[in-house]
Amino acid sequence: MEQLDKTLVTDAARSAGSAIPAEGGNPVIAPSTDRPRILVVANQKGGVGKTTTAINLGTALAAVGERVLIVDLDPQGNASTGLGIGHTERKVSAYDVLIGAALIEDAIVPTKVPGLDIVPSTMDLLGAELELASVQRRSHRLRDALSRMPRHGKTRGESDAEMQSTSRPYSYLLIDCPPCWKV
Ligand SMILES: Nc1ncnc2c1ncn2[C@@H]1O[C@H](COP(=O)(O)OP(=O)(O)O)[C@@H](O)[C@H]1O
Ligand SMILES: [Mg+2]
Repeated sequence: MEQLDKTLVTDAARSAGSAIPAEGGNPVIAPSTDRPRILVVANQKGGVGKTTTAINLGTALAAVGERVLIVDLDPQGNASTGLGIGHTERKVSAYDVLIGAALIEDAIVPTKVPGLDIVPSTMDLLGAELELASVQRRSHRLRDALSRMPRHGKTRGESDAEMQSTSRPYSYLLIDCPPCWKV
């Protein structure tokens, strides 16, 4: 799939000072570090394999022992659907996190893949651009939410004690973007 080659897999950690090469070559999949590595799957075209990349990469990383959180930022919610998250399980979604109505840890849902969790999306995200149009730091909303997230990514319904005893910190955050995102 020729277009898939053009899919931009950006390491957002680069902007936070990570030692990832700035340009050229394939993205570096490095071993776990103290902070989770953030990979953004983005391309202005639809249907080029962004979501497939996010799901497969997340599953593969989880299969080799990494702990992964996918953030589904596409109102179509294909990553959520592809990972088996039904609409009834999307009571708190990426939309609620972006508009500041919920903490990201309250939106996290475990998938059937051990070690792989997801922040699901709903059609509400379609309205987020408009709702955030006049909000300050709107382009920092996700980064702020992620930076406040407990490293162990406590999932909904899990007590603090359960979280401490069962969860390992996330080592990878994968952001599945929509084709067009103006926030
Ligand atoms: N490497 C690939 N080879 C062939 N088909 C693919 C490949 N990756 C994805 N597809 C198919 O292309 C379609 C669009 O993929 P998707 O991941 O949903 O794209 P996007 O998220 O960029 O809109 C899907 O039907 C998917 O099964
Ligand atoms: Mg997609």
